[in-house]
Amino acid sequence: MSVWDLARTRLDGLPGGEGRNIAFEAVDRHVAHGNGDRIALRFLSSEGAARDVRYRTLALDSNRFANGLDALGVGSGDVVATLLGRVPELYIAAMGTLKAGAVLCTLFAAFGPEPVRVRLAKGHVKVLVTTARQYRRKIEPLRRELPDLKAVILIDEALPGTCSWQRLMAAASDRWRIPATSPDSLALIHFTSGTTGTPKGAVHVHEAVVAHEATAAAVLTLGPGDLFWCTADPGWVTGVSYGIIAPLVRGATSVIDDGVFEPERWYRILHDQSVTIWYTAPTAIRMLMKAGDALARRHDFRTLRLAASVGEPLDAGAVAWGEAVLGRPFHDTWWQTETGAIMIANLPDAPVCPGAMGRPLAGIEAAVVERCGGPEEAPRIEPAAEAGELALKVGWPSMFRGYVDDEARYRAVFADGYYLTGDRVRRDEDGWYWFLGRADDVIKSAGRLIGPIEVESVLLQHPAVAEAAVIGLPDPTVGEMVKAYVTVKDGIAADEALRRDILAAARSRLGAATAPRDIAFHAALPKTRSGKIMRRLLRARELGLPEGDLSTLDESTPVTTSDSTTED
Ligand code: PRX
Repeated sequence: MSVWDLARTRLDGLPGGEGRNIAFEAVDRHVAHGNGDRIALRFLSSEGAARDVRYRTLALDSNRFANGLDALGVGSGDVVATLLGRVPELYIAAMGTLKAGAVLCTLFAAFGPEPVRVRLAKGHVKVLVTTARQYRRKIEPLRRELPDLKAVILIDEALPGTCSWQRLMAAASDRWRIPATSPDSLALIHFTSGTTGTPKGAVHVHEAVVAHEATAAAVLTLGPGDLFWCTADPGWVTGVSYGIIAPLVRGATSVIDDGVFEPERWYRILHDQSVTIWYTAPTAIRMLMKAGDALARRHDFRTLRLAASVGEPLDAGAVAWGEAVLGRPFHDTWWQTETGAIMIANLPDAPVCPGAMGRPLAGIEAAVVERCGGPEEAPRIEPAAEAGELALKVGWPSMFRGYVDDEARYRAVFADGYYLTGDRVRRDEDGWYWFLGRADDVIKSAGRLIGPIEVESVLLQHPAVAEAAVIGLPDPTVGEMVKAYVTVKDGIAADEALRRDILAAARSRLGAATAPRDIAFHAALPKTRSGKIMRRLLRARELGLPEGDLSTLDESTPVTTSDSTTED
């Protein structure tokens, strides 16, 4: 039996053989098995108080939300988005949306108005669940530009033109029958970034829960009795697959902390909550390392069985630090928005290979390839000599099934039965995979993918900016830092005041997590003869690296720096 079929046997399917629904497997199944009293979610406040939500309560509240959506005329295939921090309403809305047969799209609450608008529009979002503060700042001014957005539910206040969460829930029954859900019914949209164009909405189906189940068992060893802490924000794929779905499916208790990162508090959470399994990210690990070993050594982590990491390269030093200071090495895991679940990992029961992403899980066939064929042909692949692009044989249950409204972009990442990941890797003779870098220009900052075009298009909205190019530069803490190169319009002085003004405008439109940290004014940007800005060359020049193949460079645009300073 395949690992996927084995995972299917541990799941129930909807009663009456009516298909498979993620929320049923995550919540109602446990109640049906007599485990409704178990704690599903433990919310921590920044003051340290805890509020527990049991599986039964989550089942009833998500039923109410599904009924509320039904009353709003929302059902199968409609998209419901959340723009919320880690509050109970987010988890109720997530499960209720899936129970209603609607499609869940969680958005990162720290996004500025522009990334939110783009995603709501592109996702054809029909209902948004958010707070009054978020609504006033990010939605209300743009609402006319969002014709698909029929209802906004506010969890804290009632404002004109919105629905009140409290009223919707109070009026709704806590009984709900999940409609028949085919394993291929759409369940989730996760937005991710590419080098070109607007963000891509990766679409996932209910069958993905089979991979959440299997990987949560095999890689994270999650089960009832575990206190699991996934530190990823639910606005990103890790925060949904492993911050919401997988621990519930496995019947564990999730610790959910909505406070800001603070080393001392994080150590206290690990200790006070007796966390058994911890899934975090290299940026956080590096920040803990920076805070010093002495701080860590003031706490004991005796309950911690497993520490794992995802999202960015995890270096051997961080793995060793975990072992020395926490008593557990970090187990690196690799996956992507498009894969929906962990594909490559340092497994829990084998020695860690420090610095390597891991080995493909059972059920996953990985290859190292090069793309071949001309630009007009369908992509084809051939085996790479040593290093190359990581490709995954199609067929795992949580594989994304499309990019919203972008069939061509979807088709372009498949070749000869493989999904092409865009990551460059090396496989050693023992089968370990080592991350080398991205094959494209996307930026990874603090574990979040940032598309250069999304940032550049906001910079171009500034009245003084003529051209803009954005790249990621190595940063010792966040992995990559977003840096912008800008040319100004004729007659405008490229001075410090203007630099600050552009930075501030970018920050307010994009949000601090996505906006550039630094802007350099250039007299011209390097372009190909067809007029495309060569980000690769900007990066090479900034870092003093070999400039590579310059045969397409348009030599008529000399590149000179007129000013460059860094914002702290
Ligand atoms: O470049 C790889 C990097 O993160 C990308 C996927 O980002 P995203 O879709 O936002 O999903 C992040 C969390 C699943 C990958 O293409 N990445 C992910 N894990 C690792 C990694 N890079 C190095 N090592 C990893 N373990």
